[in-house]
Amino acid sequence: MRLNTISGRFALLTTMFVILAELFILLPSLAGFRLDYLESRLERAQIASLALLATDESIALDLESELLETAGVFNVVLRRDDIRQLVLSSPIPGPIAATYDLRSEGVLQTIDDSLAALFDPQNRVIRVIGAPVNQAGQLIEITMQTAPLREAMVEYGLRLLAVSAAFSILTAVLLFTAAQRLILAPIRRVISHMTAYASAPEDARHIIIPDARLAELRDAETALQSMQQTVTSSLKQKERMAQLGQAVAKISHDLRNILTTAQIFADRLEDSADPKVRRAAPKLVNSITRAVNLCETTLAFGKAEEPAPTLSRFNLAKLAAEVIEAESLAAEPAGRVEFLTDIPPSLMIRADRDQLYRVLANLARNARQAIEATGQSGTVEIGAGESESDWWIKVCDTGPGLPDRAREYLFKPFTGSTRRGGTGLGLTIAADLIRGHGGRLDLLRSDAEGSQFCIQIPRGMAALSMRAEPAPA
Ligand SMILES: Nc1ncnc2c1ncn2[C@@H]1O[C@H](COP(=O)(O)OP(=O)(O)O)[C@@H](O)[C@H]1O
Ligand SMILES: [Mg+2]
Repeated sequence: MRLNTISGRFALLTTMFVILAELFILLPSLAGFRLDYLESRLERAQIASLALLATDESIALDLESELLETAGVFNVVLRRDDIRQLVLSSPIPGPIAATYDLRSEGVLQTIDDSLAALFDPQNRVIRVIGAPVNQAGQLIEITMQTAPLREAMVEYGLRLLAVSAAFSILTAVLLFTAAQRLILAPIRRVISHMTAYASAPEDARHIIIPDARLAELRDAETALQSMQQTVTSSLKQKERMAQLGQAVAKISHDLRNILTTAQIFADRLEDSADPKVRRAAPKLVNSITRAVNLCETTLAFGKAEEPAPTLSRFNLAKLAAEVIEAESLAAEPAGRVEFLTDIPPSLMIRADRDQLYRVLANLARNARQAIEATGQSGTVEIGAGESESDWWIKVCDTGPGLPDRAREYLFKPFTGSTRRGGTGLGLTIAADLIRGHGGRLDLLRSDAEGSQFCIQIPRGMAALSMRAEPAPA
């Protein structure tokens, strides 16, 4: 049995408490025993002296010594009517070592005296004074030896110890069994429940049903139950989401192939002889292209992670110019959104060029679309610079700011879009790509005056070596 188990602690504590309790019982009992012993000696001496007083004055010597022997004392002095009278006497074997007046001893004094008597191995002569029984005088005084007293005390103490040891063993056994039944067994039950649950947490049958009778344990069971319910239901939901994700990926894949074929045919419609068909053709092509894009982004997101960035050094201003060129072409109507840059022409940065292009294009397109949706004109500006540790790129616009919904689900897939035909994936993917560079994408500001996103990419080797490790889940 180890001491760091509940059973071990219980056994140890019980033993300690019982020993403590025994000490508390033993000391006063011993003191009481000594007092009783001395008082009975006084009583016997009184009887012996009364027997003598009743007979003639001239008493035979052998009767006197017999009386004293029976009483276990050397001599007896009685004081009646203020006359001190040596009633019985015999030779004393040594000087009187101490005098005890039982009429005036306090409790602590008695305990102290009894301990002294117990641990003094020498046989001494002592004088004991007490009050005679039945008011048969004012005082009775005897002289006696300490050895028989000590012997009786030792015997009594040992008997008391034996009895209380038996009691304490019994108590310890009872407590121990009670603890086993009342506390340990229920705890083991909870533990076995937990193990069973852990082996198949998606199985709701293993969720614990609180039934402990101990209030504290029952509380623990209730807490455990609600935790297991949460875990089980979120596991189930996760599983469903994973299945749904697979289905969506499959659908997107097939749909993209079908739509690509449709795109080819729609292209041909532009050459139709029917002018109505010719006019409708570009709109059809546009819609199909948007649908293909949706399929492709969904598929890209479905892939567990983007490939690790392939780093190269390139001129950032040139990259930004490419992004702006593409976005200006896509702008509708052309010219309402003005694109600006504020990038040092010589600024070289090290990153994955394609991935950074996608990030900037996403941010610039979002800004352009937000401005276009207001029906007013505005500007989108890409600024950049470097600090000792990072490169930073800011994409600012004078649009209406992010809608509440978009801000609430910022960087969360599929949920934050407020745009018709939007997927809510653009910002999520952009943030993922920047994280892949060991950097971060933040929304710095967004209000009625416009929005400002900031990309930070670390320049240091630490970030590079971090990127060599597998991306965190
Ligand atoms: N610069 C911006 N100004 C205003 N709203 C923005 C801006 N950028 C993003 N948003 C909002 O955030 C939403 C999510 O953007 P995004 O993740 O790119 O998904 P999507 O473009 O497919 O809607 C957008 O629908 C839009 O409402
Ligand atoms: Mg977008």
